[in-house]
Amino acid sequence: MSAPLLEVSGLTKRFGGLVAVKGIGLEIRPGEILGLIGPNGSGKSTVMKLIMGIERPNAGMVKVEGVDVAGWPSHRIARQGVGIVFQHSRPLHRQTVLENIKLALLPDSLIRLFADPEVESKAIAIAERVGLGAVLHRRPATLPFADLRRMELAKAVARDPKIVLVDEPFAGLTSGEVHDFSNLIRSFREEGRAVLLVDHNVKSVSALVDRVKAMYLGEHIAEGTAEEVMRDETVRRVYLGGAITTAARPEASFKDAEPLLKVEDVGVLYGKAQALEKVSIHVHEGEFVSVVGLNGAGKTTLFNAISGLVPYSGTIGWGGTALAGRTPAAIARDGIVQCPETRELFGDMSVRENLDLGGQHLSKAERLERTEWLFELFPIIKARQPQAAKTLSGGEQQMLAIARALMMKPRLLILDEPTLGLAPVILEQLSKALEKLRQTTSITVLLGEQNVTFALPHADRVYVLEHARIIWEGDPGRFAKEAGAGLL
Ligand SMILES: Nc1ncnc2c1ncn2[C@@H]1O[C@H](COP(=O)(O)OP(=O)(O)OP(=O)(O)O)[C@@H](O)[C@H]1O
Ligand SMILES: [Mg+2]
Repeated sequence: MSAPLLEVSGLTKRFGGLVAVKGIGLEIRPGEILGLIGPNGSGKSTVMKLIMGIERPNAGMVKVEGVDVAGWPSHRIARQGVGIVFQHSRPLHRQTVLENIKLALLPDSLIRLFADPEVESKAIAIAERVGLGAVLHRRPATLPFADLRRMELAKAVARDPKIVLVDEPFAGLTSGEVHDFSNLIRSFREEGRAVLLVDHNVKSVSALVDRVKAMYLGEHIAEGTAEEVMRDETVRRVYLGGAITTAARPEASFKDAEPLLKVEDVGVLYGKAQALEKVSIHVHEGEFVSVVGLNGAGKTTLFNAISGLVPYSGTIGWGGTALAGRTPAAIARDGIVQCPETRELFGDMSVRENLDLGGQHLSKAERLERTEWLFELFPIIKARQPQAAKTLSGGEQQMLAIARALMMKPRLLILDEPTLGLAPVILEQLSKALEKLRQTTSITVLLGEQNVTFALPHADRVYVLEHARIIWEGDPGRFAKEAGAGLL
């Protein structure tokens, strides 16, 4: 067996009173992929940042090909052969895709910016390798989500790292895209790189990795083959959780003659691009409706039209009156609350302040009661109250965004891709929370998802949105047979 490329031991990181990483050790050999799993906030991203030198460890050793780099600045660790693909995309927005990749290819000195013809051809080759060949000259803001993730991968491989740290590459991707990304990561193995992979898509991680390590509250809990680790009692309890089961209610059981929300023949144009075309959906009071569709199908545009954030043709009726011409603020005050895919948290404000903002229109007593209920739902949010929102882990931010939306006491709650980046066990909790809402309140929910396994069990009715149009409508029981093929 060859010597490990990466050898970590006793790695520890404290943030104030919180020990985010406690004495973690791991080894990865050339051509090996190690999966790192664990619930939200268990310290996975922090482990990567410590290895990469983005955060300084309080203790521990990080050996890259035998050299201890713990505590070195990030650029030196990069030069030693370590690259990272971040959980969140961070493109330079004024540069094109190609320019973004070229920048990653440059040496640390800026003197010969873009002068070297080799840089151009290398960048193009990398772009093609990750599947960005067709969008070289576009700006990041105009790219679909998956392409932004591809760009992060391209930037990481640009420096030809021996060790690649990949944080949640699959979040928000469709199954086809996950397949492409898996193949790319597999090719790293064939090139003899050492890969550390974090993702909550348990199935895809298991299929890809040689070994898995599981963490909980900053500590090691299990390691072995994917099969061994997924069978582990503690991993099952704290991470995987149980299956999601709920039952759809037939449309006829909703008594309102006129649906609460009625979207009719809605069209949205972005410049010349038709983002929605003759879209009609309706939602009854108390009903849970899922809109499923791939990235770019138009889900977010539909929700933004309902929330009054984009101009549209056609009509959107709310409790019998048309919403057209009303401001987003007025629409929100009237009970339509959207939890956006992009979360839109106030990063410099604390967790508690973000929540309180959501509940500012409530009386003090009501606000407290609601906060208590949300803390029960998301205990980790309770524990993180004083922390700045931007320092929360990916999944914790998602939970806070959902909690803030619920704080507003919506009549219609619009959840846009709520499952993004959540651990299976949190999905189960969220699922139970939605189920409880369904049984104990008259809240109406419109859920946008491409994660069909989550969207189906929570829906009374399902719409499929494809290329700006609704192509199927029905109850979830019929979905698999009639519409599921491409989405399941
Ligand atoms: N700068 C910081 N200040 C305070 N606490 C922090 C900071 N960065 C991270 N944390 C906390 O450390 C814990 C570990 O965070 P980390 O991002 O490593 O989790 P994770 O395992 O990657 O979770 P997820 O799956 O949700 O991405 C979290 O509870 C987070 O709130
Ligand atoms: Mg993370």
